[in-house]
This record gives sequence, C-alpha cells and structure tokens, in this order.
Amino acid sequence: MGSLPPGSRQPAFLQTLQMRDPVRYFETLRRRHGPVFRMKLLGFPPQVVVANAELAAEIYRTDGDGNRAGALRAGYVSWLGEHSLLTNDGEGWWRHRKLLSPALHGRSIASYPELIAEIAAEDIRKWPIGKPFALRGRMQTITLEIILRLVFGVRDTEQGARLRAGLMALSKASGSPALFLTPARVRAWAETSPLAARLPFLPTTRANRVAKAVDAVLFAEIARRRAEEGEDATDVLGRLLEARDDEGRPLSDHEIRDELLTLLEAGLETTATGLSWTFERLMRSPEVLARLQEEIERGEDDTYLDAVVKEALRSRPVIFGMGRLLDRPLRIGGYLVPAGWVAIPMFSLILHDSAVYPDPGEFRPERFLGDDAKPAQKSFLPFGGGRRYCVGAQLATMEMKVITREVLRHVRLTPADPAPEAQRMWHATLVPGKHAVAVAHRQPLRERPPVVQEPKCPVHPDRSHDGG
Ligand code: HEM
Repeated sequence: MGSLPPGSRQPAFLQTLQMRDPVRYFETLRRRHGPVFRMKLLGFPPQVVVANAELAAEIYRTDGDGNRAGALRAGYVSWLGEHSLLTNDGEGWWRHRKLLSPALHGRSIASYPELIAEIAAEDIRKWPIGKPFALRGRMQTITLEIILRLVFGVRDTEQGARLRAGLMALSKASGSPALFLTPARVRAWAETSPLAARLPFLPTTRANRVAKAVDAVLFAEIARRRAEEGEDATDVLGRLLEARDDEGRPLSDHEIRDELLTLLEAGLETTATGLSWTFERLMRSPEVLARLQEEIERGEDDTYLDAVVKEALRSRPVIFGMGRLLDRPLRIGGYLVPAGWVAIPMFSLILHDSAVYPDPGEFRPERFLGDDAKPAQKSFLPFGGGRRYCVGAQLATMEMKVITREVLRHVRLTPADPAPEAQRMWHATLVPGKHAVAVAHRQPLRERPPVVQEPKCPVHPDRSHDGG
C-alpha cells in the first residue's frame, strides 16, 4: 500500500478551530479513521498522527536519519540561541545531547532530593489553610526555584539576586500567551526583520530583549564560575563547565548559556503542570490517596509513589504530542507519508490506548505495579521517545515524587469542586482548566522519610542514559 492515511476533509481553518479542545478532537479522529490519520492545521505542514506505541516506534526508528525534531521547534523559541538542544538536529544536536545528558542523570542528581524537599517545604508553609487556592501557581514557584538553584546554581548573593530577577522576567516573557498565539509566519518575519526588532510591543521582540538583558548577568556568572577552578560541581552549570566532548573540547560560554536557558524553558512549566495534575487526580481518588499516605507514613520505599506519578503523567499527559519533520518519505502503518510532512506520536491517544491501559479514563496507579507493569511501561511515552526523548525525564520524575511526598507530609488536600478539571491547551501543554484548585487542611507534620532511592529513568528503567 502506498496511499496517504485517511483524515478529515474539512478545510484547514475548521480543523484548526477544533484545537480548542485538542484531546477530544484527536479522539474523534482516531475513532473515525483508526490509529493512523492525517490533519491539516493553519500555518503548519500537513500532519500524520499515530495513536499507539508500535506505530510511534516506526517514527522514532528514523530519529537518527531522515527526520527532524529541532526544526519544528526553532520558530517558537529563538531566544534560546543557535546551540539549543530543543531546536537543533544532526551532528550539533547529538554532540550537545551527549554533553548535557550526564549532568541530568544518575549520580549527578542523586543528591538533589533533599534540597528539592526543602524548597517545597518552604513554600508549603506559606499556603493558605481552609481557603481555596490554585495549586498550579504554587507548583510554578517551586519548580522555578528548583531550576534556579539546581541548574543555574543561583546563590543568595548580589549577583545571584540579579540573575534570579532576570531569569524570572525571561520565564514570564517567554511564557506570554501573545507570543504563543502569534502565527508562525508573523513570528518568522518578526525573528529576522530589523523593523520588527524596533517594535517593542511585539511579543517576540520583548522575549528577545529580556533574553539579551539576562545574557549580561548570565555570561558574568559563567565567567565567575570558570574562575572558581577546582570547585566540586553540584549544579548543572558546574557540570557543563567540566563536560568534554569525544575530542576533549569543552562547551563555549555561548553553548552553555543556550543550554541553561533551554532547561529553563523545557523544564519549568512541564514539571509544574505534571505536579498540578498529580494533585488534581489524587484529590479525586480517595482510595489512591489513602494508599499513598500509608506508604509515606511507613517511610520504607516509594514504589506506590512512583506508580502514582506515572499514572498522573499517563492519564493527564502534560504534552499532547511531539512531532518530527520528515526529510524523506516514511512508511507508517502501511501508508506512505511524503517528505515535508510532520509525523506525530500523539501521546494523549497512545497513553489512553485501551488495548494497553484498560479503562483508560480511570486513575489507577496499580497499572504500573506487578504483572501489569511491563505492557504499561512499554507504551509509557509522556516524555516522548526515540533519540529525542526528554533529557530531563529523570529529574522531572524525581521532582514530582519528592514534591508530592512533601506536600502530603504537610497538608491534607481536598478539591474546591469535586468535578474533574478539564484539560485546557496552554502553549504546547495541557493544563488543568481551573489550575488545580484545592483547599489545604492542617494535619500533624509527618516525619520526612529518608531520601528517594537512586534516580531511575522513567522511560527506560533498565538502561543507563549517561551517554544520551
Ligand atoms: C513532567 C515534566 C516533563 C515532561 C512531561 C516533559 C516532556 C518532554 C517531551 C514530550 C519532550 C519531547 C520528546 C520528543 O521529541 O520525543 C521533551 C524534550 C525535552 N525536555 Fe522535557 N519534559 C519534562 C521535564 C523536563 C525537565 C525537568 C527538563 C530539564 C530540566 C526537560 C528538558 C527537555 C529538553 C532539553 C528536551 C529536548 C530534548 C532533545 O530534543 O534532545 N524536560 N520533554
């Protein structure tokens, strides 16, 4: 068979309108057309979507050869610079991936849980008691502080305060809805046109300006850290300064700057959203919450906590799908997809594939325990797959586990409204429609159990990823 996959016959603008509720739209197309279908959205090349892990593997198989992930993201995040892992492909991307991965895996992050727990506890102590508040905002504050301290190594110094203020402003400017809503063509023009650079009200101009202001402080900080020779690196910046490629070459200041901002961009909103959903789901699943509380009180291991976090990422994937721009035609599920199209493993469909996850709408962490764990793990793609799978997956899972445990140690949470929150599109993520509104109740403070075990990759728990 060499035909195109089936798909909607609606004009592109009508298909684009359906993206107000992407989860429902993808589900409708899957029901109508099967596990491989095509879509056309305004401003994007034609797309082919796949809805199960086997078909996703057919796309990931060509990750090293003939498809590009970075090219698709480049237009959105130009302030990350020319070296960013998110926006590059080919040799340059692979060199950076190998240099960056060890700093975010295994032993490099094994000492982080304690500091993460302290950062979370400091924030939780300020939460209102007995009054509704949005957990998402709290999670954004906590995950930002974690990135500032563990990735950038920000300290309580004058220089640290300047860096903190700049990075907070950048994270705000780059997260502006106006920026995301700017159509791809306008954005491409705004990125390159000297006229656009002189129009301060354009969201692209604003984000690039704030990034430039941050650069001055960040380069000074990199220079200061380079001068501190012999200091044992404990944060990601320190490890990047020590990293050497296969030819023994270090990363330049610009390369380090681009990757640090990339980690800020990729690691902040995603983890905060994953945590918001974890609480949104837990508050509405009293039996799961009781079992988790019991495990935390026993303080022995974190097997159930691990399953809870995975189930939260499965039942409410933070990112609904991440595509590859095809450089050459690709055969998927018996169809021939032309070069120039985008092939998308749609996580929101794959993680709700009822052949792998029976009753996919239910929040049931037990899927990731015992005999059920193997198939559940095989299709577990909230962090993507192939060679581009999320380089921060281990750190993100660790953060989610430590923060969830810390919150439940301090307070009892109930939902302000028992109805589940809808999944709303926010940039490339799906966030809880009401920002995970909760009411916190006082409870006796439980003892903090010893640190979570050696961090493992949530996607490939049996493999070492130190080389990427
Ligand atoms: C719950 C939290 C997170 C989720 C759900 C998530 C999800 C993802 C997904 C779906 C991708 C694309 C994978 C693909 O193209 O197949 C990705 C890529 C990436 N993520 Fe994450 N992520 C999370 C947290 C983090 C954190 C904490 C960091 C770093 C501090 C991070 C850094 C990155 C980077 C740099 C990439 C690009 C990798 C490459 O293209 O080689 N992410 N992430």
